[in-house]
Amino acid sequence: QIIKEQTGIIGLENRLKDKLNVKEVNIVEGDCDESDEVKIELGEAAAKALMRSLKEENIIAVTGGTTLGNVSKMVKPDPKHRKMVFVPARGGLGERVEFEANTICSQMANGAESEYHLLHVPDEVSDETYDMLIKEKHVKEILSLIQSSTIIIHGIGDAKKMAKRRKASDETIEILEKQDAVGEAFGYYFDGNGDVIHRINTFGIQLDDLTKEKRVITVAGGSSKVAAIQAYIKMGYTDVLVIDEGVATQLLALK
Ligand code: BG6
Repeated sequence: QIIKEQTGIIGLENRLKDKLNVKEVNIVEGDCDESDEVKIELGEAAAKALMRSLKEENIIAVTGGTTLGNVSKMVKPDPKHRKMVFVPARGGLGERVEFEANTICSQMANGAESEYHLLHVPDEVSDETYDMLIKEKHVKEILSLIQSSTIIIHGIGDAKKMAKRRKASDETIEILEKQDAVGEAFGYYFDGNGDVIHRINTFGIQLDDLTKEKRVITVAGGSSKVAAIQAYIKMGYTDVLVIDEGVATQLLALK
């Protein structure tokens, strides 16, 4: 706290909170694109934001990605022993297993010494497969748990990078390019205005599920994600924003 005051980070947090109209902004010093240490600190700040968001009973839905991977390493048991149940926000996105929501969910739960449930379905499926899988008892149960989550903690990606990571088809990549996609979250690709351009046919949290009752913690760092973060914030889902200084100063400078 003292270091934050000395470096003017608190002032930056307050100005951004007003500008972006979110409940809380947490900023770590530096830029994730330039240092791995900053990524670790971002993870720690997000884990703390998560702990501050806890109520008596919590169902916490988490997405995948390297950022959330760092958060998961920093989650600790709650000294007040409040109940935490961790669930993946989405099915598998076909990325490396260490970045999958399931893996990160279990890691967070282990760190918190809490319970977790996994969702064993691929994220992107055809309509027929969706209709079939949705009838499965296990899938139904876990999806209803995901729907009733009280806290959602998630990452944001650059649209092009995410399309590549997810091995999107040439057709999808063309749509994203034509319509100037800048960012991706929860399998939704959006443009600079925060308008959705494309979404993956998927299990788990949909943007419409991000209701006011749920506390949404958005974690993203690195100057290369500024456009994606700015656009996502325009959608108005975020309650708590955890970013780095590189992102923060650029967001403040933008109109
Ligand atoms: C993915 C999430 O796993 O991580 C995406 O499902 C998100 O919605 C992405 O955009 C962010 O990844 P990273 O590695 O930049 O934190």
